[in-house]
Amino acid sequence: MSVETETRTMQAIVQRTYGAPEPVHTTATVPRPVPAAGDVLVRVHASSLNVADVAMVTGRPSLIRAVMGLRRPRHRVPGRDVAGVVEAVGAEVTGFRTGDEVYAEAVAGSWAEYVAVPAAVVGRKPATLSFAEAATLPLAAGTALDCVRTVRPGQHVLVNGASGGVGTFAVQLAKALGAEVTGVCSGRNVELVREVGADHVIDYDRSDFTSTGERYDLVIDLVGNRTLAACRRALTEHGTLALSSGGGGRVIGPMGRLARAVLLNPFVSQHLRPVTATRSRGKLDRLTELAEAGQIVPAVERTYPLSDAPEALRRLRAEHARGKTVLTVA
Ligand SMILES: NC(=O)c1ccc[n+]([C@@H]2O[C@H](COP(=O)([O-])OP(=O)(O)OC[C@H]3O[C@@H](n4cnc5c(N)ncnc54)[C@H](OP(=O)(O)O)[C@@H]3O)[C@@H](O)[C@H]2O)c1
Repeated sequence: MSVETETRTMQAIVQRTYGAPEPVHTTATVPRPVPAAGDVLVRVHASSLNVADVAMVTGRPSLIRAVMGLRRPRHRVPGRDVAGVVEAVGAEVTGFRTGDEVYAEAVAGSWAEYVAVPAAVVGRKPATLSFAEAATLPLAAGTALDCVRTVRPGQHVLVNGASGGVGTFAVQLAKALGAEVTGVCSGRNVELVREVGADHVIDYDRSDFTSTGERYDLVIDLVGNRTLAACRRALTEHGTLALSSGGGGRVIGPMGRLARAVLLNPFVSQHLRPVTATRSRGKLDRLTELAEAGQIVPAVERTYPLSDAPEALRRLRAEHARGKTVLTVA
């Protein structure tokens, strides 16, 4: 085989079936992706773990298999968040060149040495952050940005699930917008939630935020462990409930709750709004500005080498998250 036609390879975490992390994940040598005309090929320095990655591993809730592959995952290499260096660009890409430091949210494939991502969803890495820190932003901080989009200075905002990946960013973003912020988390994470800027912290083992009598202009629910009626009790008359895709059963996950919120919304004075984490360069540009201004600082709990991805996932599933878990690629 000539040098020109030889397929280049890379190390990647590969998943051939659904299940628990260890039996389904192996480190393997696979072909390096070739960027399409509109793609940027990124040499991966870091990726971060998200609840979406856990769903991809387990194939639960079952509804997601309609998108991810019915019997086995459509994408063999998992991983969405990525921060790294541009290795090559497709023929139609402008604005990026080899050597640029970038970050992005891929559909899959970032738990590898290289990943190809559409240039339209690639952003310039914040200069003030390491690759490991930047890799925590795209999905989690991007979702948090959507959660806080209605916030005005002086409003009262509550974040249920304030110590997790999305929650630690939601607290910081709501503070940056001038809100008074209350975070809800377990007792062991009270200090972390204070450190990321919450004015008040509720330990959910001691107090139920839906029964305190306090009213918030915005409740960001990242957990889904309270009924819609209970969450509405914690809202002002025209307050907003921003619902992420948290909680729910093994088949449809949170979809029943989100559908009920959408159906109820026209009939109540409050605004019940599912959160959608869409990918765009504009969103990454905004996150870069906020990070470089020091208004969001990633809370990285643990860093693992890529080959330890199964262990990182196992811990994420077995223990409650504190901020973000990162995979680094040598
Ligand atoms: N809509 C979208 O596009 C989108 C995008 C990203 C994420 N999400 C969803 O958003 C949710 C949060 O994601 P994440 O990445 O932040 O998850 P995560 O990092 O696992 O954090 C979840 C947090 O919830 C907290 N928690 C658990 N039980 C709780 C309770 N009873 N009361 C209050 N807090 C509790 C945990 O805090 P303690 O350890 O302190 O208990 C944990 O830190 C997930 O369900 C995910 O699927 C949706």
